[in-house]
Amino acid sequence: MQSPQRFQDLPEYAFPRLRALLDVHKPGAEPTPMSIGEPRHAPPPFLAQALADAAEGWGRYPVNEGTPQLRAAIGAWLRKRFGVSAARTDPDKHIVALNGTREGLFNACLALCPEVKNGQRPTILMPNPFYQCYAAAAFAAGAEPVFLPCDADTGFLPDFDAVPADLLARTAIVYLCSPSNPQGAVATDGYWRKLIALAETYDFRVFADECYSEIWRDLPPPGAMAAAEAMDADPERVVVFHSLSKRSSLPGLRSGFAAGGPQAIAAIKRLRAYAGAPIPGPIQAASALIWADEVHVDASRAIYQEKYRIADDVLGNMPGYRAPEAGFFLWLEVCDGEAAALKLWTQTGVRALPGAYLSRPTPPMLGTGDPGAAYLRVALVESPARVRAGLIAIRNCLHPNSGS
Ligand SMILES: Cc1ncc(COP(=O)(O)O)c(C=O)c1O
Repeated sequence: MQSPQRFQDLPEYAFPRLRALLDVHKPGAEPTPMSIGEPRHAPPPFLAQALADAAEGWGRYPVNEGTPQLRAAIGAWLRKRFGVSAARTDPDKHIVALNGTREGLFNACLALCPEVKNGQRPTILMPNPFYQCYAAAAFAAGAEPVFLPCDADTGFLPDFDAVPADLLARTAIVYLCSPSNPQGAVATDGYWRKLIALAETYDFRVFADECYSEIWRDLPPPGAMAAAEAMDADPERVVVFHSLSKRSSLPGLRSGFAAGGPQAIAAIKRLRAYAGAPIPGPIQAASALIWADEVHVDASRAIYQEKYRIADDVLGNMPGYRAPEAGFFLWLEVCDGEAAALKLWTQTGVRALPGAYLSRPTPPMLGTGDPGAAYLRVALVESPARVRAGLIAIRNCLHPNSGS
């Protein structure tokens, strides 16, 4: 039997690769998990009661696009958090609930990527390194993914000035993650506006993956929807993706949303009506309450802010350390990410992810090398005490003379 060829350029996913690299060796000490971005802070205290109160919903097929209550709560949150107007956040036209952002980032591409752009196979631009779902979505849609290098020279976000005009002409969608995973870089309002202006010129959509927007160090990151509105851009230019996974430390709840122009949201809803996995009813009911509450979000952010300070304190003098602006990862420059991950595991039990498992070689038209190869991604998701211990182990193992 024949298998499809369109996914042949997808490498093994990052975590099976990590297991193959590390699990043939014994950890040097009790394992410290710092590889997976799985939030570990306390969930909102009212979650269990909210699910229990809506328990009769387990016996019903859920509303595919999200209940009116959930979409209303999401619209209110978007207005309050980003200052987007009611006209661009109408729950019936501009919002669709998702089973976490991952399925939405994938399915929105299927729903919205055209077969042809300016007479050619479309391209989908994405940062490199990146959340791996973007590339799978591009292949599934029959588009060519193009990986835009993000390194210290580009401020860890793509440099769209470096993208040739003929490539932009073929571009149907640009994925941009801000705050970025893995580097914790934040797109400024000006950066968003420049990208949206480019989208207007070259007629493509921007998929703004903003699932880390609530985890920040000093200032709340600006959002793409507000930037589009401020410049009076076509609302169809931007689709934003948000999630309760990081904001509310609920990666297991599988609850998020997409918001954008009415045509884009209608297309996503239509595909979901056939092939989507709606959020179970009780989870939709609880999610509406969770989007309306900021107390637990502020409490969780305060713990991340404590961990940023711990990272500065422990790694501040270590070569290759850069304090992230947002998100919960450190992106450490270590020369060879795979070698560093192996050394850390076998000598200290710290489990971190080689950057190359999140990146691809830079396409020749845009440069050389692989912008992830020299890096290690370290997740700050455990308790502050465990994070401190893990970071001290990293410093002592990789740079024993850099103690502060
Ligand atoms: C950049 C980025 N986008 C999207 C997701 C998907 O998260 P979820 O589907 O839990 O909302 C993740 C999860 O790690 C992520 O890191």
